[in-house]
Amino acid sequence: MEMKARLGAMLLLIWTLQGDTQGVEIPRREMEVVKGQVAVLHAWYSPSSDISKNSVTWQFNTNGSKPVINFSSGQVGYGQNEFTKRVGFSVTMPSANLSFYINDTQEADSGLYSCIVIIPGAPTIYGHIQLDVKVPPSPPVCTLAGNPVVKGNVTLSCKSSQGKPVPQYKWTKAAPVSEVFFSPMQNERHGTLRLSNLTKGMSGKYTCRASNTAGTDSCSINLEVITSSNGGVIAAATLGSIVGLVAMVLFLVFILRRRRDTEDEIANEIKEDALAPKRVSWAKSTTGSDVLSKNWHAVLHSHQSPTP
Ligand SMILES: *[C@@H]1O[C@H](CO)[C@@H](O)[C@H](O)[C@H]1NC(C)=O
Ligand SMILES: *[C@@H]1O[C@H](CO)[C@@H](O)[C@H](O)[C@H]1NC(C)=O
Ligand SMILES: *[C@@H]1O[C@H](CO)[C@@H](O)[C@H](O)[C@H]1NC(C)=O
Ligand SMILES: *[C@@H]1O[C@H](CO)[C@@H](O)[C@H](O)[C@H]1NC(C)=O
Ligand SMILES: *[C@@H]1O[C@H](CO)[C@@H](O)[C@H](O)[C@H]1NC(C)=O
Ligand SMILES: *[C@@H]1O[C@H](CO)[C@@H](O)[C@H](O)[C@H]1NC(C)=O
Repeated sequence: MEMKARLGAMLLLIWTLQGDTQGVEIPRREMEVVKGQVAVLHAWYSPSSDISKNSVTWQFNTNGSKPVINFSSGQVGYGQNEFTKRVGFSVTMPSANLSFYINDTQEADSGLYSCIVIIPGAPTIYGHIQLDVKVPPSPPVCTLAGNPVVKGNVTLSCKSSQGKPVPQYKWTKAAPVSEVFFSPMQNERHGTLRLSNLTKGMSGKYTCRASNTAGTDSCSINLEVITSSNGGVIAAATLGSIVGLVAMVLFLVFILRRRRDTEDEIANEIKEDALAPKRVSWAKSTTGSDVLSKNWHAVLHSHQSPTP
């Protein structure tokens, strides 16, 4: 009899110890969730004593330790922090199911969560879950750098300001002829597409897709490659426009003065100002005004030219 009782007590002790040393069971130690979604952190244990006497605490152990939610002395307590009003136990406490949820997850919720169960008269047990809150790419911005002329080069760029993990970018051409691009023209990490030795046929709509494991978003840009002769005119106009503008200002000054002043006064000025005769002869000569009007036209043209 005594032997049996002893054996029974020993078995009970072993069973109790096992129950306690099992710790907090975590089915998934690493979890991923997309920002805004609900995260349910699953945990449970096998109680060996009156469950209502145990206290359960969930902590956020990243950048220090913050209380998230607890159950103690028959009451649920909430930490006064960013988790307040977003968390709750999945199952009414007391329960052997220790799972809790986080509503409207934020990127900053990423980190290590620890569950601590304090059992009176027994060792405290622990469990840990790593949560990763991912963020889909924000709407990317498409830009073009360079001069879109035949035989010229341009670089299309695409960038999302937000996204976790870091988004990858892929440029494709949809219309009028669809095309895919490869390295080194296409840099998926930086979001750039370099188009060199441009042809008219490369005109069209280019779309960039920013994507990560949380989602995708896209932007597009219209590339219009203009002929090199136009390009030449524009390039020349750009160079000539500064000279042209200076000449034009001088010309306008001259006209205004001429309107105000009499012919005699102008003649006096010409004598006085060494530079004036040059201006007068240039403005009066037909070739001079031709150059001026061409420049004026080219300046307008270069301003109107599509350089997005
Ligand atoms: C931890 O705190 C530092 C400084 O306040 C901050 O830069 C960092 O993003 C924080 N990390 C997490 C995971 O919140
Ligand atoms: C439970 O949380 C409340 C509110 O944060 C706190 O006052 C209390 O001390 C916590 N209890 C335990 C056992 O951690
Ligand atoms: C979390 O979201 C669910 C579903 O929208 C809602 O029923 C619950 O009350 C929310 N919990 C908290 C603590 O706001
Ligand atoms: C604990 O509760 C959650 C939410 O109700 C449930 O999904 C999960 O299966 C439960 N876990 C166990 C071990 O019963
Ligand atoms: C375009 O790039 C090529 C090299 O890829 C270079 O040889 C050429 O001079 C560039 N043309 C222009 C107009 O920048
Ligand atoms: C640009 O394209 C033209 C016509 O396709 C070709 O003849 C020329 O060699 C190319 N130039 C460069 C720098 O690739």
